[in-house]
Amino acid sequence: MSAPGPAHVAIIMDGNGRWAQKRGRPRLYGHHAGARRLREILEACPDLGVKYLTVFAFSTENWKRTQAEVSGLMALFRRYITREAQAMVEAGVRVRFIGDRVRLDAKLVALMDELELMTAHNHLLNLTIALNYGGRDEVARATKRLAREVAAGKIDPEGVDAETLAGFLDTCVLPDPDLVIRTSGEARISNFLLWQAAYSEYEFVDTLWPDFTRAEFQRVVGGYGARDRRFGAVPA
Ligand code: IPE
Ligand code: IPE
Ligand code: MG
Repeated sequence: MSAPGPAHVAIIMDGNGRWAQKRGRPRLYGHHAGARRLREILEACPDLGVKYLTVFAFSTENWKRTQAEVSGLMALFRRYITREAQAMVEAGVRVRFIGDRVRLDAKLVALMDELELMTAHNHLLNLTIALNYGGRDEVARATKRLAREVAAGKIDPEGVDAETLAGFLDTCVLPDPDLVIRTSGEARISNFLLWQAAYSEYEFVDTLWPDFTRAEFQRVVGGYGARDRRFGAVPA
């Protein structure tokens, strides 16, 4: 019997800007191409046994980009949600968003809420989109909520452990990622799933995100089976 594949794959979809630059086009052109690529990767998941796919769409640090790029990305997210909603419902995809919604515009947040609600009964694939997400920000927000419960006398501080804190994270209903993939050749985590990826396997590929095909995704996911995950233990 072959080793089980990863149930939860997380992807840092990087390289859209360079992809566009190589073609002499504006960065937003690359973001649009990247959004189209996501659909193909989503469709590949069920056959590969991937039940959870979590993708990094916009980080808490991405606000540092030009106003034109940020507003173009926000418009793309609104358009993507509007256009893909029906396909997600029909494909059995349950969509969730993680990240801080406070800084996002009300129209976008309303679309996010609506898509979560529309797909809440689906269970073929769990797609989580990280939007205005940062791992440190998530832990800080979780700590704030936990501290409020402690202050209110609802939680005994002596009983707080890693599991308690995990229950306050945006990802509290999700399993930890088994495999984290980053495209575009950068070998760093850039504040993605800091807590959750403590024992994940990593795969860094040189391909720019808009060029990342289903075939390459299948190859990377297939390679996971050969890895030896020890979680700190010594195998018998
Ligand atoms: C990833 O592509 C998408 C976002 C961060 C929104 P980039 O925009 O970071 O593309 P590069 O890394 O500059 O090529
Ligand atoms: C990480 O990519 C964020 C997303 C893919 C959304 P970045 O392009 O923002 O990361 P750095 O700046 O290269 O670390
Ligand atoms: Mg980048």
